[in-house]
Amino acid sequence: MQYTDDQQKAIEERGRNILVAAAAGSGKTRVLVERIIRQLIEGELDVDALLVVTFTNAAAAEMRERIEAALEKEIAAASKHDIIARLERQRVLLTGADICTFHSFCQRLIRQHIEAIDVDPKFRLASEQELVLLKSDTLETMLEEKYERPLEADKLPAWEEFISFMDDYGDEKGDEEVKQAILRLHSFAQSQPFPEKWLESQQSGTGQTIADSPWLTAAVPEMRAGLLAVISQYEECAGMALGSDDPALKAAWIPYGELIQQDLAGLDAIREAFNVLESNPDGEKWNELVRQVSKFSWLAMRGKVYGDLKNLYPDMRKQFDERRDAVKKALKKFADTYLNQQAEQIEEDIALNHKTAAIYAGLALDFGRALQAAKKERNILDFNDLVARDPRVETVILPLRDGLTILYKKA
Ligand SMILES: Nc1ncnc2c1ncn2[C@@H]1O[C@H](COP(=O)(O)OP(=O)(O)OP(=O)(O)O)[C@@H](O)[C@H]1O
Ligand SMILES: [Mg+2]
Repeated sequence: MQYTDDQQKAIEERGRNILVAAAAGSGKTRVLVERIIRQLIEGELDVDALLVVTFTNAAAAEMRERIEAALEKEIAAASKHDIIARLERQRVLLTGADICTFHSFCQRLIRQHIEAIDVDPKFRLASEQELVLLKSDTLETMLEEKYERPLEADKLPAWEEFISFMDDYGDEKGDEEVKQAILRLHSFAQSQPFPEKWLESQQSGTGQTIADSPWLTAAVPEMRAGLLAVISQYEECAGMALGSDDPALKAAWIPYGELIQQDLAGLDAIREAFNVLESNPDGEKWNELVRQVSKFSWLAMRGKVYGDLKNLYPDMRKQFDERRDAVKKALKKFADTYLNQQAEQIEEDIALNHKTAAIYAGLALDFGRALQAAKKERNILDFNDLVARDPRVETVILPLRDGLTILYKKA
């Protein structure tokens, strides 16, 4: 087979980490198999010294089959006795090779080093259905406990906050929506490297001013695109006044020059205020942008000077009016979408939303801990538990030729 240059490079590169990213069906697995086979043929390694992990069982089975097929092909084609012997040996070793999913690999790792972690050796993996039920029960119990008024005075404020939160976000059918939100948040957090840390960071108070608000960071590119679209729409409209060779039409456009200049100057001032905000946002700059947009006014075309175009070229004038009106609408929409509040109001909203988010994050944290305890009690683990995620224990797995070494680094 004729490999592409990039494929060839990925097959032959040694002694450093490589990352191959390519479109579906473009030959990634093929390259990986070839890379492995070459190393087996050349006696660089034994197949059971490899760690090949995939996301699905099907992909792991495919890898194994393809390596086996490639080995058989090489054996059939080989003539040298020592190469045939080496490859035959690899075929036998393949049965015990670590070609599996991340999860089955981690599960095996945990079983092998059970003494190093706080897990009962008799653990089993919970099924999806079992977990759904366990989560639901755990959450139910947790909320029931939280509803109970504490006896200690120092716990009262947190309890009151919880009650008023549930009043606000629960509904007459019960707390179904809140529950679903906690479950979703908990499960989203599991996709973060350190779920608990991530949830804790959601409780912190940063990002509440315009200056450091993630909301503004997200909004700025959209705002820029929106504003530039308005401006270029106006420039097209203004271009109508320039594009004529007919002297009479040209003359009829002349009085519009000043009007257009003024429109453009207003739009420019808005763009300038936006640029200043974008380069280093703060509340004052935000308010300046709001001011520039609200002070912008479209001159009315009153008076005789505008008459010639209107009388002699009514279609032209109608088109100009329509285009200018479309820009007016677009600018108004831009203003209504983004600039209908002063910085102070926005910050107030952010603070309010933040409080809600922080309470949700706290509930998801408590839920996660309650779930962990419930699983421990039943001696079960779920898929997420298989990958070490405890921020106090950083696990490094080093695949070495003679096996695997696990380093536990306690922070
Ligand atoms: N350079 C090449 N020339 C001809 N055929 C090729 C080449 N590279 C790969 N192929 C063929 O393309 C097909 C898809 O390759 P492969 O399964 O390795 O792709 P993949 O990137 O792993 O796909 P997926 O994204 O589905 O996992 C296979 O039949 C493979 O033999
Ligand atoms: Mg593939």
